[in-house]
Amino acid sequence: MGGWLYWYLGILIHTLQFSCSVRTVHGLIPQSPIQCSSSGCTLRNSYGAWGDRKDCSALNVTYPTTEEQLRSAVSYAVRNNLKVKVVTRFSHTIPKLSCPHENNNNNINSSTATLLISTEKYDSRIEIDAARMTATVDAGVGLRQLINAVEEAGFSLVAAPYWEGVTVAGLISTGAHGSSWWGKGGSVHDHVVGVSVVVPASKSEGYAKILRLEGQDPMLNAAKVSLGVLGAISKVKLSLERRFKRSITYNFTAEDDHIEDVYVDHAKMYEFADLTWYPSRHTVVYRYDSRVPLNASGDAVYDFIGFQANSILVSESVRAAEKLLESTRNANGKCLTASTTLGLKKLVGNGLKNNGQIFTGYPVVGYQGKMQTSGSCLYSSRFDTACAWDPRIKGLFFYESTAIFPASKFGDFAGDVRKLRDLKPENFCGVDNYNGLLIRFIKASSAYLGQPEDSVVVDFNYYRGNDPSNPRLNQDVWEEVEQLAFFKHGAKPHWAKNRNIAFLGVNQKYPKFNMFIAAKKQMDPLNVFSSEWSDEILYGQELSEKVDGCALEGLCICSEHRHCSPQKGYYCSHGLVYKEARVCRYLQSFISSTIV
Ligand SMILES: Cc1cc2nc3c(=O)[nH]c(=O)nc-3n(C[C@H](O)[C@H](O)[C@H](O)COP(=O)(O)OP(=O)(O)OC[C@H]3O[C@@H](n4cnc5c(N)ncnc54)[C@H](O)[C@@H]3O)c2cc1C
Ligand SMILES: *[C@@H]1O[C@H](CO)[C@@H](O)[C@H](O)[C@H]1NC(C)=O
Ligand SMILES: *[C@@H]1O[C@H](CO)[C@@H](O)[C@H](O)[C@H]1NC(C)=O
Ligand SMILES: *[C@@H]1O[C@H](CO)[C@@H](O)[C@H](O)[C@H]1NC(C)=O
Ligand SMILES: *[C@@H]1O[C@H](CO)[C@@H](O)[C@H](O)[C@H]1NC(C)=O
Repeated sequence: MGGWLYWYLGILIHTLQFSCSVRTVHGLIPQSPIQCSSSGCTLRNSYGAWGDRKDCSALNVTYPTTEEQLRSAVSYAVRNNLKVKVVTRFSHTIPKLSCPHENNNNNINSSTATLLISTEKYDSRIEIDAARMTATVDAGVGLRQLINAVEEAGFSLVAAPYWEGVTVAGLISTGAHGSSWWGKGGSVHDHVVGVSVVVPASKSEGYAKILRLEGQDPMLNAAKVSLGVLGAISKVKLSLERRFKRSITYNFTAEDDHIEDVYVDHAKMYEFADLTWYPSRHTVVYRYDSRVPLNASGDAVYDFIGFQANSILVSESVRAAEKLLESTRNANGKCLTASTTLGLKKLVGNGLKNNGQIFTGYPVVGYQGKMQTSGSCLYSSRFDTACAWDPRIKGLFFYESTAIFPASKFGDFAGDVRKLRDLKPENFCGVDNYNGLLIRFIKASSAYLGQPEDSVVVDFNYYRGNDPSNPRLNQDVWEEVEQLAFFKHGAKPHWAKNRNIAFLGVNQKYPKFNMFIAAKKQMDPLNVFSSEWSDEILYGQELSEKVDGCALEGLCICSEHRHCSPQKGYYCSHGLVYKEARVCRYLQSFISSTIV
């Protein structure tokens, strides 16, 4: 069980003395993201809310189990003029990429009918070619299922995201990654050697055909990271390496003054290096993580603390406490919990378990298959536990911003964040309550929507209110960091995360964007697999209308006070370090000179 929330709760009870009511909830195995009734289907992501919080509806869903059934589903859709999106059993992507059509006020425009194709039941084949060291898998195969099969056959998948609640096709489609500047690098799509994709076709071809992209085919560079807009991926072929082990040590004692000077060497020195920066704590945690021979002793598990199952009661209490700190504007309360949380992470090695049960000390050695990727909250057998953010409970709810920097530009960004931090360190406690700033490494990619150069990826999570019209404590700080990343220092957004504003102008940031669009025109000339939603992300479009409060949810950048919440004291103001930034800042007394 995830101990950190208990700690967090313990400290909160001492500081706040709040009480909570008990509720019973029954067994929470992850729920299908698609719910259908006689009037149609609703698609949700795993957090239960899209960026704009509006539901996504579709007329129908189909569950193919074989490649031929997948082909015939696409054929059916093309023949009947339907808009299509492929969805997975997890639906862990935050932007509304897999929503097939805009639906105004839940009033489905019947002239544009839609079909969801779910890969939930298309997950049975994993073929391992030992001689060529590849695995060819059905699109809907889960990451954990793949890793286990590969390890059993004596191989390892070198790159994978840290979270295992994803499918193979879903994760490559958004460019998901772990961390490495070695070999082919930390992005999974850079280990892809073949993709089969079902695309629309002419009547004489049966309205749908399977393209098998391999080797030097330039279309493969489009299909590796495709946001689902080229067609329905049926199979993915990944390159493997001989099975290996890893040795991980975390260093929790470093100060954060020299991140700019050390991140390059750190990534070069350790194959699976990462860094976690806790700005309010003036601390950066180094992950020393290297490959070791198979005969090194150790059979550990990395059961990352943030992905362990938590008691539902605890998750809900922590959320209630966080809301209380927000509504009472209690930054110091957040700092107390941030400090406690970091202390606990150190004590339990972030969830590393030397013998599979508990953390007993560094280094921690185990098989690659158990050290890279985790998500034990997905399988908890206890009825009163769940992943902390499960939308069926009143648990954690947060934004996730992920910025991808050309390696050389990350240092300047880190310097600006430090300047902002130094103005008022306690403003950063909110983010340190989650996971600080997680800094990872990925290599230059041949994928058109992958990174053109070696890059540094920075993730940070922060409080999201249940009510979208409620401004958040220190939200100006997170807006400024976001704008520093995406607009001053040229970062690109991770396709699977972020608030809408991060995507503004994203098309101009990819030098091979036009090659991707050319491939898209060739594979899906009638835009069967595109929607208003995926276009908005892919083409980085600006909102046509900036409504009141739009900046609070990251749907726009404020240019007038009404885009913030003047009635609650939040005005559109300029950034403190990055003057060009426009952020919603709480001003106790309205001083007109500080306003844009
Ligand atoms: C707790 C958590 C931790 C995470 N950690 C990481 C991390 O460490 N690193 C990282 O990079 N990301 C991470 N992510 C993001 C995650 O990797 C991506 O959201 C991933 O794309 C989700 O995969 P999915 O199978 O749920 O796909 P979905 O979200 O369902 O789909 C993603 C996209 O792929 C398309 N798609 C899916 N299957 C097909 C198919 N067969 N054919 C065509 N298109 C298809 C969909 O239409 C959609 O556009 C994390 C997410 C969560 C919730
Ligand atoms: C939905 O699809 C199923 C088959 O997948 C079909 O039986 C059903 O009639 C469809 N419903 C609608 C409303 O089109
Ligand atoms: C439905 O969509 C079609 C095509 O986009 C459009 O021409 C039509 O006006 C829409 N109808 C309604 C009622 O919105
Ligand atoms: C941790 O990092 C600090 C700062 O880089 C360094 O001085 C110290 O030796 C490191 N500790 C270990 C155990 O490597
Ligand atoms: C592992 O095997 C190598 C040779 O294959 C050997 O040199 C080394 O001593 C072994 N190490 C351990 C810890 O057994």
